[in-house]
Amino acid sequence: MSAACWNVWSTVPQLVRMFWVVSLLALSLPAASASFETKPEFIKTCRFDQPDFVDCSTESVQGLFDKLVTGIEGLEHVGTIDPMKISKIRILQGDGPVSVNASLSKVVVTGFASTKVLRNVVSSKDFGWETHIRLPKMRLEGNYHMQGRILVIPLNGHGKCWFEPSGMDIIMRTSTDLYQKNGHVFYNVSGTKVDYTISGLRLHMGNLFEGVKVLEDSTNQYLNDNWRPVSEALKPIIAKTIEDILLAIMQNIFHQLPADYFVADLPRSGSS
Ligand SMILES: *[C@@H]1O[C@H](CO)[C@@H](O)[C@H](O)[C@H]1NC(C)=O
Ligand SMILES: *[C@@H]1O[C@H](CO)[C@@H](O)[C@H](O)[C@H]1NC(C)=O
Repeated sequence: MSAACWNVWSTVPQLVRMFWVVSLLALSLPAASASFETKPEFIKTCRFDQPDFVDCSTESVQGLFDKLVTGIEGLEHVGTIDPMKISKIRILQGDGPVSVNASLSKVVVTGFASTKVLRNVVSSKDFGWETHIRLPKMRLEGNYHMQGRILVIPLNGHGKCWFEPSGMDIIMRTSTDLYQKNGHVFYNVSGTKVDYTISGLRLHMGNLFEGVKVLEDSTNQYLNDNWRPVSEALKPIIAKTIEDILLAIMQNIFHQLPADYFVADLPRSGSS
């Protein structure tokens, strides 16, 4: 199994409207793989009709995360998640406190190994999930290209950058449809919405202003000193980025791993 195969994602270089665009294209769905005909050991199976379903399901999702960190054998198009490699992220936003045209390439994200799943609830009505996750520390690094402004700060340049949010609490609301394949029920993940808070952020953007060092240093200083309003301003962009990344990953995973391995008493009659 290759250590990282996020290169199956390519960027869609299309710029849509005035808001953001982060385009990660999940390539065509994997052909039905025979790898998961029997339930892998690491999946904890729960039932809606057990009294401690939420605890069970929380443990089950934690188990999945833990396994994803090093990679799941036989799972196609999903590499390790720590480090997670993303070839390109594009960000375009025209209005409001943040106005940027930026891209991040050769992105490496580390920190998911310490993901703590606090709570996972699966709806027995529409089979969507609400997942609470805590990420104590995360680091994203890569090459950036940026033109624009955040709050009152003009930012123009290209070079290396890193971001280190800490104490990240994420609530993820995911909608799904059920379908059947090979005698199993599967989740067709149709969308996810992410909301989050962080308790700190450190960042550095190298070679801002084409190497005018004084401006670069004072701007980085300002961004770090004012991380709270800066991260507030960036929140819609960051949330959308996380949503797109997670959606692609979850769609890949759940078209391959049967949903009934996670929740045994999902209805078998197809989507609602
Ligand atoms: C954003 O930047 C890229 C690369 O610098 C450029 O090709 C594109 O035209 C820009 N888009 C907008 C809307 O300014
Ligand atoms: C999953 O849902 C999408 C629309 O959200 C649909 O186009 C696709 O055919 C569905 N896939 C399966 C396998 O049901």
